[in-house]
Amino acid sequence: MTPPMGWNSWNTFETNINEQLVKQTADIMVSSGMKDAGYQYIVLDDGWMAKERDSITGDLVPDPLKFPHGMKVVVDYVHAKGLKFGLYNCAGTKTCAGYPGTRGYEYQDARFYASLGIDYLKYDWCNTEGITAKDAYTTMSKALKAARRPMVFSLCEWGTYQPWEWAAPVGHLWRISGDIYPCFDCEFSHGSWSSWGVMRIVDMRKNTELYAGPDHWNDFDMMEVGNGMNQNEDRAHFSIWCMLASPLIAGNDLRSMKKETLAILTNKNVIAINQDQRGMQAFRSKQKDNDSVDMWVKPLKEGLAVCFINRSAKPVLLKHAWNNITYTTPNQPPLRPGEKREDGDDATITFSTSQPLRIWDVWKNAQIGTTANSLSATIQPHDVLLLKLSQ
Ligand code: GLA
Repeated sequence: MTPPMGWNSWNTFETNINEQLVKQTADIMVSSGMKDAGYQYIVLDDGWMAKERDSITGDLVPDPLKFPHGMKVVVDYVHAKGLKFGLYNCAGTKTCAGYPGTRGYEYQDARFYASLGIDYLKYDWCNTEGITAKDAYTTMSKALKAARRPMVFSLCEWGTYQPWEWAAPVGHLWRISGDIYPCFDCEFSHGSWSSWGVMRIVDMRKNTELYAGPDHWNDFDMMEVGNGMNQNEDRAHFSIWCMLASPLIAGNDLRSMKKETLAILTNKNVIAINQDQRGMQAFRSKQKDNDSVDMWVKPLKEGLAVCFINRSAKPVLLKHAWNNITYTTPNQPPLRPGEKREDGDDATITFSTSQPLRIWDVWKNAQIGTTANSLSATIQPHDVLLLKLSQ
């Protein structure tokens, strides 16, 4: 009911994965405090399979060199640590890296995952000529349900067919973009396709906040925290993923993680904004104080989070007057069968001098006044000022 939290192998390791990496990652997930902070899923992305299915049964086969003891022992190891385990496949005939895809094997593969004790399936969209996304993901969703093991179902068709409009009953999260790249605001060209920096992904879809909520999230991709950006940029990246109610899937090498990276990934106050029970995604305020500063607002169960992002390469002195400013959250999408709307879901939040709210600087973990006075703060380049406002 809150955005999934975990780790995925792709951003750092691509297909260079193996049993030892999973075990070490699980060990560190626990010993580093990440598990206590809420990280739960260890997900192996593309590259865990042998190049062919079993010639007799047709089942998928874990790569015997990378996983010499099979996959069940790996899953059991992760489960014994109190964590959950995920695998990757693709709706097409082959995965993006050329391993056997699931097309035509949906029910068989779902039974295979259930027999291994898998808790999470990331389902990609390469080599899918002639099929439609909504149908293909619906088939796999039904197959997983028929396999009768609860699994998080993660759709990965890169936002190509507007999954936010149809995927809520199908899965739990859906990618809204192509692949992330570890830079703050760049496009990295691979020739026929591009990967995208943090702010490019943030800017890519307008109004997707209408579609996120408990058990159905817009997925802004696995994180690049600790993968080469500077500390301000990593903090901004993590803050905005939390504001956007995106799944928090770390993508760094936990074995060589710096303490600064761990401190960002495990900041409980920031994570609490992501995991807030109300499950709303932040929306960009139309309020303009400064052209290089974005203002994002996320209504919480109690109070609201406000994140100012300095997009420029220079420090910015932000001055923001709270008085008599109204932010109206967008209408929520139509309810699904069996759902009810709580009173007040279409919130209008009005700040006024008669109702000052207390302001808490979330990263500094300090009260910094009330909304009765205008805010004045310097924000470093590519950094954020993340605030929580409450009565
Ligand atoms: C696609 C996905 C990535 C990753 C790779 C694996 O590019 O978007 O997240 O899963 O495939 O090949």
